[in-house]
Amino acid sequence: MQKYLIVGPASQMLGVKIANKLSIPHINTEFKRFPDGENYLRLNLEDETILEGKEIIIVQSTGPSASRDQNARLIELFIMIDAVKRIGVAKIILVVPYLAYTRQDKIFRPGESEFAKVVLQMINSMEIDELFVVDIHNPAVLEELTCKAVNIDSMKILADYIKSLGAKDIVVVSPDKGAIERSKAFAKHFGEDVPVDFFEKKRDVKTGDITMSGKLSLKNKDVVIADDIIATGGTMSKAIKIAKDSGANKIYAAATHALMLQNAKYRILAAGGDEIIGTDSIDNEVSKVSLANVISDYLK
Ligand code: R5P
Repeated sequence: MQKYLIVGPASQMLGVKIANKLSIPHINTEFKRFPDGENYLRLNLEDETILEGKEIIIVQSTGPSASRDQNARLIELFIMIDAVKRIGVAKIILVVPYLAYTRQDKIFRPGESEFAKVVLQMINSMEIDELFVVDIHNPAVLEELTCKAVNIDSMKILADYIKSLGAKDIVVVSPDKGAIERSKAFAKHFGEDVPVDFFEKKRDVKTGDITMSGKLSLKNKDVVIADDIIATGGTMSKAIKIAKDSGANKIYAAATHALMLQNAKYRILAAGGDEIIGTDSIDNEVSKVSLANVISDYLK
């Protein structure tokens, strides 16, 4: 079946790269915000019948950026889905590397919502066929989805990139005990015997403030601190500071989704980080590793 790829406004580079790897045509969008704040988007095509009965891949990450917040990115995604549904396509595949709200997956305080589930329920209501995400914060939330869901792993390509920078005598450090299993899997991509350790992170559920503790033996080691998300850089900068105090040599701060909000860049570098590495799940200056190959392999 003929496939077309819709390049969402948030994932323009990644969308085109995936379309090129799959050798399929891509269609971009025209988008703006009305004076009242509502989002407008149309598929940039004159003859919409070309999509009738076709398989459509929509690529749109939903992370916040300077020009659009995650709510706008989600709305743009839903507008694209609705547009192709109205045209009457055969199959809809969503590629949403960063799915917004998935950190709101648990109840910490009375009166809260498990909004991660609601986002997946909203996707269910659009009756799509397949959803691909990358390193989702809590894979369990995908159980809410009624269609096929795939959580793609970006660890190998992040590790390959860090190795290409000449990192040696590596220790992988998890900034949070809860992420230790992920860090162990990540470390395997650097070599079978690469050690893994962790710091103990606590977040105040009311203020969001982080405290971190731990003392590791990192003298003359190159340290890779891996997380799924860098948002404000609070977690990463605290981990870097402790790693530095523990004698680390070079420190690589790696995340699948490097949102880089507020003073994140400054905090990480000021704490002693040598390099910040993200993927093009989020299109910014630290997106040094492209997900295009790994996503295309799944879509083939
Ligand atoms: C939280 O559990 C995530 O895995 C990240 O550690 C967190 O989202 C990072 O946020 P920030 O950069 O604001 O500390």
